[in-house]
Parts: sequence; structure tokens; C-alpha cells
Amino acid sequence: MSKNTDELFKNVIAHAKEYGFVFPSSEIYDGLSAVYDYGQFGAELKNNIKTYWWKSMVQLHDNIVGIDSAIFMHPKIWKASGHVDGFSDPMIDNKDSKKRYRADQLLEERIAKLNEEGKTSEAEELQIEMDNALKAENLPRLRELIIEQNIKCPISGTANWTEVRQFNLMFSTQVGAIAEESDTIYLRPETAQGIFVNYLNVQKSGRMKIPFGIAQIGKAFRNEVIARQFIIRMREFEQMEMQYFVRPGTQKEWFEKWKETRLKWHLALGTDAAKYRYHEHTKLAHYADAAYDIEFEFPFGFKEVEGIHSRTDFDLSQHQQYSGKKMQYFDPELDENGKPYGNYVPYVIETSIGLDRMFLLTMINAYEEEDLSTDEKQDSRTVLRLHPCLAPVKAAIFPLTKKDGLPEKAREIMDTLKLDFNLQYEEKDAIGKRYRRQDAIGTPFCITVDHQTLEDNTVTIRHRDSMKQERVAAADLDKIIGDLVSWKNLLK
Ligand code: GAP
Repeated sequence: MSKNTDELFKNVIAHAKEYGFVFPSSEIYDGLSAVYDYGQFGAELKNNIKTYWWKSMVQLHDNIVGIDSAIFMHPKIWKASGHVDGFSDPMIDNKDSKKRYRADQLLEERIAKLNEEGKTSEAEELQIEMDNALKAENLPRLRELIIEQNIKCPISGTANWTEVRQFNLMFSTQVGAIAEESDTIYLRPETAQGIFVNYLNVQKSGRMKIPFGIAQIGKAFRNEVIARQFIIRMREFEQMEMQYFVRPGTQKEWFEKWKETRLKWHLALGTDAAKYRYHEHTKLAHYADAAYDIEFEFPFGFKEVEGIHSRTDFDLSQHQQYSGKKMQYFDPELDENGKPYGNYVPYVIETSIGLDRMFLLTMINAYEEEDLSTDEKQDSRTVLRLHPCLAPVKAAIFPLTKKDGLPEKAREIMDTLKLDFNLQYEEKDAIGKRYRRQDAIGTPFCITVDHQTLEDNTVTIRHRDSMKQERVAAADLDKIIGDLVSWKNLLK
């Protein structure tokens, strides 16, 4: 990370805390690693991102419906999905610092360094060795590579490493009063399984015909050992996932469609297209026959925000086998030979976006320290240029002064608007200071009620981005704000 981007990232994190977007969890007890709380404006921004996703996935597709499944599920689900046996990272500890690392990440960092130094063939060789060791789950070989490369712990500076062990990322807990092994259940590490196990319930109760989708937004939990980069890698986070059930043999075409559709969703927010790229997975997860990430260029480099996965019929077939219940769909439509397709286990295309990563991306994109200096004086402001649909507060209402009936008039105007828009009332400090506070949280409009308002029912409206002010009738505010924050601007 260069000094500038490093500083930008630090400033965004500080801004997020100072203005009530994101707080470290349990801060008065010195925090809890990789867990964060969303403050008053963070919660609003997060909700608006969810609404944008939900509307575009569920409301705009008459063959996609949304559900809300429980976080706790039968433990066999995680056996069937492969998470009990396979959802783990290879970990290694440094005996001197007692710090734990992901063995593959230590090697990845070494490969990146070799590339930086121009030692590309050495880097390539190491990459192949590491990939082979990971594929074969050859943990002693991973350790050997770390030792051969003389990789040292950044804290202790020594290469005194333990063996490499697999560390399962699922959190477990017990149901019932007495802890017995059979009572162990897991906090879900992805929301997707709640969709798979309900797919027939939804299909039958909603009379859904293939292709159809089920969407869900919810918390997921992973015991990430390496927590870093703020809300990029958390232990408790939120996912917005959609499983699209298709006829076997058509998955490639749907995969391409969803890959494109999802990138369009990101770009509709006005983000510079150069900040996004696709990353194709060459090492596929056990359930996938194709996978792409949508990556965004964060200040610390390109990072995955969303995954598009062609999950085959793996999950449904596994649940069919483990539950003993049929997961087949009856397709009455006729194939090219005029015969019904009949019973089959559908294939699944999944789109899975991390809400917290999307939140951070949105904050970073919107954050600007703008120089407003003129020949006469130095001035600046920090402004969040959030898309108006995502802005936590749509308009702030200020009485010019705290007397002469202006607060009452401002409240009266606010009452006419607050059912439709999230508003803030502010009467403290000079108007300029109030503008700056609203700029910092991304409020698109500031409305000032002054003495003229009492005479002719007009107000000044100040626009966040241009900082221009105009005088408008209070009766028109509903339409002016409504037009700018309408979801129609995003969901075309
Ligand atoms: N159901 C598929 C699935 O869970 P994933 O690539 O493991 O796929 C999907 O996760 C998305 O969830 C990622 O693209 C990322 O945005 C987000 N995500 C994953 N782990 C995360 C973590 N520890 N903290 C925050 N977001 C995370």
C-alpha cells in the first residue's frame, strides 16, 4: 500500500467511527478481534445496500423469491455440505511469538515478494509446489516449504514453527442444558445451506417453475484466524446470496448471465468500471464446476467482494443422500424429442456478495477530502458522495435561528416529509458547520427555514455535491427529494 492509499484507508476507518458508521465491537473492554458494530448511520447505509440488492434480485425478477432461514440448523447439514470435514484452513504457529498464521498465506506473501523482486520463475515454482501440497492436503510439505523459504514470524523474527494443522472455521455451540457431543450445532458459515434445505418447500408452496431463484440476506460466522483490513475479514458478517435452480446442462449459460448481471448491479452505482475486475478461480471448491470473483480495487489492492459459483447439483444431491429425502424436481416441459424432462436434481448457480465488503467499498468510493480554498482563505470539507438512494439521511432540516418561530416551522415542514424520507433536524451551530456535518455523512440535501419561509412558505435547499443553493416552495420538497432518491434512478 502506498503512503497515500494507506492514509486514505486509515482516514476512512477513522471517519467511519467519528461519524457513527462503524465501531469496534465491545470497545470499552478493549474490543473483540474481527468483530464490529454498525452505528446509527452505518445501520442506515447497510439497510439501503440491502434494499438495493433485494429490489434488484427479488422485486425485479418474478421468478426469484426471498426467504429468511434460521442461523441454527441441523448439524447433519454441515456434514452433508462438506463443511465439517473440509471447511478449514492450514494453520501454523510460531513457537516464540505464539502467533498463529495461515500457512498458505505465508507462502502467498512470499510468492508476491519474489514477483516484486523480479524472481518470477522462483515464484512460479513455489506456487506450483504450494498448490500441489494444498491439493494433496500434504500439511508436512507446506511446513517444509515455509522452512525452505526461510519465512520468519514478523513478530518474533524467528522461523521456529510448529507443525501445520487443519483448523475448522465453523463456530460450534451446544443445544439443550447438558453439553453432549451429539448436541453440538454450528453457527452457519454461509447462508446458502438454508436455501438448499428449503428449496422444495419454496418450490412447492410458491409453485415455482425452473429456472427459479431463492434469495436471502443474513449473518454468517467464520472463525477467521487472520483478521485484517477492518471489515474485510470478520468473524461475524453478513451475506446476500441467491441460488438459481436450473435444468442440468444449462448451467453454463446461466452462469454467464449472472456473472454479467451482477457486475452491472455494481456499476449502476456509478463506480468507475476500472475499479472492478473478474477473477477466474483455477482451484475450484469441491462443489463447483466454474467460479468467478468480482473484485474491487480497495486501497490495499484488488479484493473479492462477490463470488459467482456454478455449484452443480452437489449440495442438493448431498442433502438427498444425508437426509434420505428426495430433492428432485419434476419438469413437465418437453425436450427436443417431445418427451418431458421429468425428474431431476437441479443444478445451481449462486451469487454471493459480502454485505460488509460492499459497505466498505461504498464508503471508500464515496469518501473525498475536498479542497475548497480560494485566494482569500483556506478551506476544505470531507464529503461522502454516496448515491442518494444509499445515503443514510436523505435531507437535513435547519431553522436559521433558534427563535422567531423558525424551529416550529422547520418541525412542521419535517412532519410533512418524515414518513417518506429519513430526515435529520439540526438547530445547533452556524449553518456552515451544520452543512459540513451533513456532508460528512453524505446527506444529499440541506433545507434551511428562515424568516422568508414564514412569509411565503419557501425554503433554501442546498445540494451536497455542487454546494449550490436555490429557493423552492416547501410544498415542492416532497417531489424534489423523491425524484433524487427514487430507486428508479438505480434500478432501470
Ligand atoms: N456460499 C458461498 C460462499 O459463502 P464465499 O466466497 O466463501 O462463498 C461469499 O463468501 C462472500 O462473502 C465473499 O465474496 C465475501 O464478500 C464475503 N465474506 C466471506 N468471508 C468473509 C469474512 N470473513 N468477512 C467478511 N466477508 C466475508
